Amino acid sequence: MIRAAIIGTGFFAPENVVTNDDLAQIIDTSDKWITERSGIKERRWLAMGEDGRTVLNGAEMGAKAAERAIANAGIENSDIDQVIFATLNPDVAFPGNGVFIEELLGLNTAGAMDIRNQCTGFVYGLAAADGFIRAGTAKTVLVIGGEIQSTALDKSDRGRDMSVLFGDGAGAVVVQAKEGDQGVIASVLHSQGRYARDLWLEGPVATMEGRIDSAMIDEGRHFPKMNGQIVFKHATRRFCESINEVLEKGGFTPEDIDLMVPHQANQRITDAVGQRLGLKPEQVFSNIAKYGNTTAATIPIALAEAVEEGRLKKGDLLVTVAFGSGFTWGANLVRW
Ligand code: ACO
Repeated sequence: MIRAAIIGTGFFAPENVVTNDDLAQIIDTSDKWITERSGIKERRWLAMGEDGRTVLNGAEMGAKAAERAIANAGIENSDIDQVIFATLNPDVAFPGNGVFIEELLGLNTAGAMDIRNQCTGFVYGLAAADGFIRAGTAKTVLVIGGEIQSTALDKSDRGRDMSVLFGDGAGAVVVQAKEGDQGVIASVLHSQGRYARDLWLEGPVATMEGRIDSAMIDEGRHFPKMNGQIVFKHATRRFCESINEVLEKGGFTPEDIDLMVPHQANQRITDAVGQRLGLKPEQVFSNIAKYGNTTAATIPIALAEAVEEGRLKKGDLLVTVAFGSGFTWGANLVRW
């Protein structure tokens, strides 16, 4: 049987570390509040260059993560025949970041697709890569999750519930058609648009002439907004449901999981999910303390770190799971 096997992982985290104490210098917050509510101690925010732009853009961060994943897989750039780039904010309104990866890595016209599924982007991307491979559309797919959050956050007291949670970074995996057991066993994908407005960034909007006006800017509607308690409640429930659903598809139970790599939204969400499913600490991966929530990038960054730390071995049963704006949620079940 042909399966979509993850044969390489890599990540890139910007050098510039921003601690909770650094944030407390500019926003009315504290290390204690952030640590207790989210588990985050620090995050990376891209430094700004003299031209007033970040020193790297999202595609460049993605390319750095991808180069590491390609080296880790032991393949050549020319082997990639499809790019899937998951991000909630591409570098420009269009085209998406995938085409810039084709250029940066010299991929000789390989297909490029962007996925706009926010925190769930990587889970959708891996499911799409699996579909391409099973259908014979592609043989070697580069799935990247990359995000610049720092430039979009409201860094005044008004935006403190959001701005303390998010960070910049990118992670990548190489997925290749392989004969045998290794690879994606199943995926589950869901959405519920009635909650779109509980976690969104409204402007610029397509229906408005000029797309944005000064009233929107004055009201801060060009910054992301979140109803934190609703997100918390739904995230915890949907994480558990999708893990159970994807395990059931493969004929497994939570006890069979060797490693769960959840979207790093909030340590309290991860802990609640682990508790509800009866998972042992060694079954759950977390690095949110170091990077915060990098939306589409959290899972591929975590996968790359799990590999570096020896937490994923050949034959292990891996579950990746995410919930995010949309609301969207889902999970992948993978034999490593
Ligand atoms: N620092 C200090 N105080 C703050 C901050 C901050 N950064 N942000 C909010 N507060 C204050 C509020 O103003 C409020 O003050 P008040 O009581 O005087 O009105 C107080 O803290 C409590 O606010 P709540 O919103 O009730 O705080 P809550 O306990 O719900 O925690 C949080 C907020 C952390 C956002 C929580 O709702 C949560 O964890 N939600 C899940 C959302 C999440 O993790 N999102 C990640 C992104 S989405 C995703 O990836 C799935």
